[in-house]
Amino acid sequence: MTHFNSTRETVLKASRAYYAHRACYEDLLVQRQRRFTEANKRELNFLERAFSANATCPIKKVLDIACGSGRHVFGLAKLGYECTGLDYTPERIQIAKERAKREGLSVKLLQGDATQLKHENEFDAVLALYVLFLLPNDDDVLKCLNLIHRALRPGGILVCNVGNPFYKGKRWFSLNAIYEGLRVVEDRAPGIRSTEVALLRDFDPMHGVAWWQETSTIEASDGAHVFRDKERLRLFTYWDILHYLQAAGFKEIKCYPDWEINPRKKPKAETLVFVSRKD
Ligand SMILES: C[S@@+](CC[C@H](N)C(=O)[O-])C[C@H]1O[C@@H](n2cnc3c(N)ncnc32)[C@H](O)[C@@H]1O
Repeated sequence: MTHFNSTRETVLKASRAYYAHRACYEDLLVQRQRRFTEANKRELNFLERAFSANATCPIKKVLDIACGSGRHVFGLAKLGYECTGLDYTPERIQIAKERAKREGLSVKLLQGDATQLKHENEFDAVLALYVLFLLPNDDDVLKCLNLIHRALRPGGILVCNVGNPFYKGKRWFSLNAIYEGLRVVEDRAPGIRSTEVALLRDFDPMHGVAWWQETSTIEASDGAHVFRDKERLRLFTYWDILHYLQAAGFKEIKCYPDWEINPRKKPKAETLVFVSRKD
């Protein structure tokens, strides 16, 4: 089986099914499990510091182009930012809307494709977190970054991240996971247990594209569920993203490894977080 030439539609369909199936369960884990709540805190803290360190306009209006169930937009809304969250998977937007209602948070939530943004000179900051690797092909990545550049006001910033394929530890994006061909992750929180087994089905080393077959077994208060889905991941290096950002017109581009505003001399660089300004 080869997936090297998968169409845009195939990739989007697979990604939508994957994120739809897990939508409400991931939201529970994100809200209840320490690993996620700590990551959330760290990322929100980074965002606030990155806004003040890198933007040359005051940051008020924020757009998240793949908000999922809304963890970043809700965190920022609580801090007083005016947020809009967009996501391709309607089930994720639905979960986010329910949470907004429950918590009385005012966030504009829309279903949409990050490669079809229509905004112009509207936002002070745009977030593209944990999503670039999912876009169906490299033309989409460039198109998406171009549209984000257009959506920003001058002086505004884009914060985006990718997993670093050269990271040596045993994590999702590492070459290590690719060569082992298998990844198993178990997460538990009050009222939920999830085990995800991902098998590498196809890897194109020239283009850095991997197709995984993922089986999630979830036990939650509504019963036990097994979901089998495919997911396509594109591995990007620091240089790939730098070149794309430059091609999209961003000028002041900084990379912060592992959500550290003041990185250690030799960071682990599991995640590369780019902050880029529109001049
Ligand atoms: C790994 S999740 C990250 C969600 C969120 N940014 C977070 O950090 O929790 C990836 C999200 O990207 C969304 N997505 C995938 N392709 C997309 C596209 N073309 N446009 C907008 N959202 C997309 C998925 O529906 C999913 O919610």
